[in-house]
Amino acid sequence: MPLNTDFHSLPILLLYGGRSAEHEVSCISAIFIFEKLVEARFTVYPVYVAKNGLWYLQEVPSAAEENCIGNSCKVRFVQQDSEFFLEGERDKVPVKFVFPIIHGTNGEDGRLQGMLEFYQIPYAGCSALSSALCMDKWFMREIFKAAHLPQVEYAKLEKKQWEEKLSDIMEKFSYPVFVKPCNMGSSVGVSKVKEQSELKTAIEDAFRYDDHILIEQGVDPEEIEVSILGNFPDYKVSLPGKLLPNHEFYSYEAKYEDENGAHFEIPANLEESVRKEVQEMAKKAFAAVRGEGFARIDFFLEKQTNKLYLNEINTLPGFTPISMFPRLFEVSGISPSDLLSEIVALGYSRFEKQSTFVA
Ligand SMILES: Nc1ncnc2c1ncn2[C@@H]1O[C@H](COP(=O)(O)OP(=O)(O)O)[C@@H](O)[C@H]1O
Ligand SMILES: [Mg+2]
Repeated sequence: MPLNTDFHSLPILLLYGGRSAEHEVSCISAIFIFEKLVEARFTVYPVYVAKNGLWYLQEVPSAAEENCIGNSCKVRFVQQDSEFFLEGERDKVPVKFVFPIIHGTNGEDGRLQGMLEFYQIPYAGCSALSSALCMDKWFMREIFKAAHLPQVEYAKLEKKQWEEKLSDIMEKFSYPVFVKPCNMGSSVGVSKVKEQSELKTAIEDAFRYDDHILIEQGVDPEEIEVSILGNFPDYKVSLPGKLLPNHEFYSYEAKYEDENGAHFEIPANLEESVRKEVQEMAKKAFAAVRGEGFARIDFFLEKQTNKLYLNEINTLPGFTPISMFPRLFEVSGISPSDLLSEIVALGYSRFEKQSTFVA
């Protein structure tokens, strides 16, 4: 893609950590991204966002909070004329491009991206709009519905007077159903409900995280995932992978607490027609939310019927050496350092395009 910016010569600020439940994963993602961006000959400044919200400029990222804080310099974000810097007692570095890799709340939901758009700083990954849309499961489903993409049956429940509305809502479902908070991730607050007697507890649990929740028709799925790269509407999609949870479903425990919580089949052993269907649907789904940069898109392939349902788009997927996102591109012929160079180029290209619009 022809870019006006000689972006390779500009430093990248790698922002990681953050306050969400995925803090630790973010640190491991950052270590891998740092290594691969350096391999691609970028100058990278890792910036650790501690759980209390303070920012630390480092030489190399680390997964141990004491290293992140102990060996680094607390910095703040400052504006001087039309330039931005991170400034601390020892150091001052320019902010030219940000690579946010803070998964979950604040980093993946559009808030951080909105701040960068406000200050007109180019950055990697999805825009504030598509990040926010994909973070809220109900808004995401409504957009998919408008784009005629196949999904499981779903209904939204609001905290106010939910008990009165429940029996009407439940008429269109059969057990098992899944109950989930609209605005969460990492399977936090997600329950599989097999019979009516378990429903109330699951709903109350989901309402601990959000005052809007979803009830979804449970299916018995093969969980299929693909990685996607590109700016709207020109997308490259990886080969699909399959996720095989060793738990009842891909719960929080299976994701983070049990080392053998799941295993991956990379690439997934799928019929050619299903592989194509997954890849085509991934492009349509990413276009529907006007996705930009990169994402991982997850599907349910119903075992009994072979019917494919779109589940969700993760706009800041795990980016560790064992994560699906980079591994799926690697088996599709794009190495992690080429993948990262392309993600940075896509961020600049979006920024340049936006700079041409009349304000
Ligand atoms: N409708 C459903 N049918 C079958 N399994 C589901 C359904 N919804 C969620 N699951 C299971 O729960 C997991 C987490 O749900 P998901 O909607 O992906 O939430 P999160 O954003 O927290 O990952 C899925 O990976 C899958 O294992
Ligand atoms: Mg998921």
